Amino acid sequence: MNKKQILLLSLFGLSAMLLVIVSCRKDPKILEYSPTPISVQLPAGVNPFVSPSDNPLTAEGVKLGRMLFYDPILSGNNGMSCASCHSQKFGFTDQGHQFSMGIDSIFGDRNSMPIFNLGWERAMFWDGGSPNLETQVLGPLSSPLEMHETMANAVKELQADPKYPNLFFAAFGSDSITSSMLMKAIAQFERTVVSFNSYFDRTYPADKQFPDPKSRGIIALNPKNTIERGYRIFSKENLPNSGHCWHCHGADPRTNFFTDFEYHFNGLSFNGLDSGRQRITRLERDKGFFKTPTLRNLAFTAPYMHDGRFKTLDEVIEHYDHGAMLWNTNDGLANFDLAKPMNFSFQDKADLKAFLLSLSDSSLLTNKTFSNPF
Ligand code: HEC
Ligand code: HEC
Repeated sequence: MNKKQILLLSLFGLSAMLLVIVSCRKDPKILEYSPTPISVQLPAGVNPFVSPSDNPLTAEGVKLGRMLFYDPILSGNNGMSCASCHSQKFGFTDQGHQFSMGIDSIFGDRNSMPIFNLGWERAMFWDGGSPNLETQVLGPLSSPLEMHETMANAVKELQADPKYPNLFFAAFGSDSITSSMLMKAIAQFERTVVSFNSYFDRTYPADKQFPDPKSRGIIALNPKNTIERGYRIFSKENLPNSGHCWHCHGADPRTNFFTDFEYHFNGLSFNGLDSGRQRITRLERDKGFFKTPTLRNLAFTAPYMHDGRFKTLDEVIEHYDHGAMLWNTNDGLANFDLAKPMNFSFQDKADLKAFLLSLSDSSLLTNKTFSNPF
């Protein structure tokens, strides 16, 4: 062996040793950072949502986000998770509670919102006070009325947990956990929670012809036609007993979200506490405006409205029928749609309710990919 060969051999030995040292630092399975891009399966006719460019969906990110969503480690007393107020069994809302109670037994002042089809929303919360799903996480985590934890402490606890550093490495390529990684992971999981499998979706698939809301004609009363009649009340124009609901709850129902993603005033009396969108814009004209909620999965998400004031859909329908109060006249649609009592007949109300209930997708409640992973 000449000098050169000896040198090469020892260099080789040295790098082999280094390799061993490096590989001992981490679980060898995830030494390589190679996240797996994924996309969400959607029915034909539903346009995909767009993730932020710095937070694409990956299998590893979604898996981690799902664990964090269900893990009480994110709360001040480690006793409450996001799922405590967003329970799958109730369409990811809070089990019939008008207001949710946080870890310090303090009630908030708004009804919990459902978590599904959020990838398409333009802003979060009843008043749109949070621009996206990533920053939204900071709200409940640090709110004294909710999980009452500091982001710094949540990150510290996750870093000290035996399982999380590896999972963060797999999702984001670093095992030094940051608040931004935490928020991104939860947002990724939330974007995967979609719901498009209601009776209505199955009967009128998004890529097929919808029943024409303007067609008149006599409709026989069988269960399906009850729903169709309800759909016409929801959407028809310039006919007696129009509901005009579609103006706010989906300009074109084929967009399939049953919301226009805008803020509206829907004639609720002021509850004395919550000025809604005005909290964000500070404009008097926005007092009483709230984000139009989706009408999907109402069968599971009672009570209704930002303050959960209505326990049943019958109460909601009574409100629109003759209870609307136009104390704020700045919403053009409300002025047009809600100024006069609708005078629904008994049958109209029953049909409208049947239509609303046909938008509920019970597979959301049992879908294993969204359930508690622990
Ligand atoms: C104490 C109950 C409670 C907990 C815990 C909680 N939330 Fe919420 N969540 C609510 C309420 C109430 C609202 C409506 C708040 C508002 O409009 O100001 C809401 C709204 C939301 C929204 C907005 C949905 C939309 O359509 O705009 C998202 C997203 C959300 N929560 C996710 C989470 C995540 C993620 C966690 C855990 C980090 C969490 N929540 C923890 C009660 C809770
Ligand atoms: C002018 C716009 C507008 C019109 C028209 C309208 N809505 Fe609404 N709807 C809203 C807004 C905004 C909210 C949330 C209000 C709040 O919580 O303060 C809402 C809330 C609801 C809710 C409660 C959902 C939940 O998750 O709490 C239901 C159900 C509903 N509307 C059904 C209807 C029906 C049925 C019609 C037609 C008869 C209708 N809406 C017409 C804007 C409108």
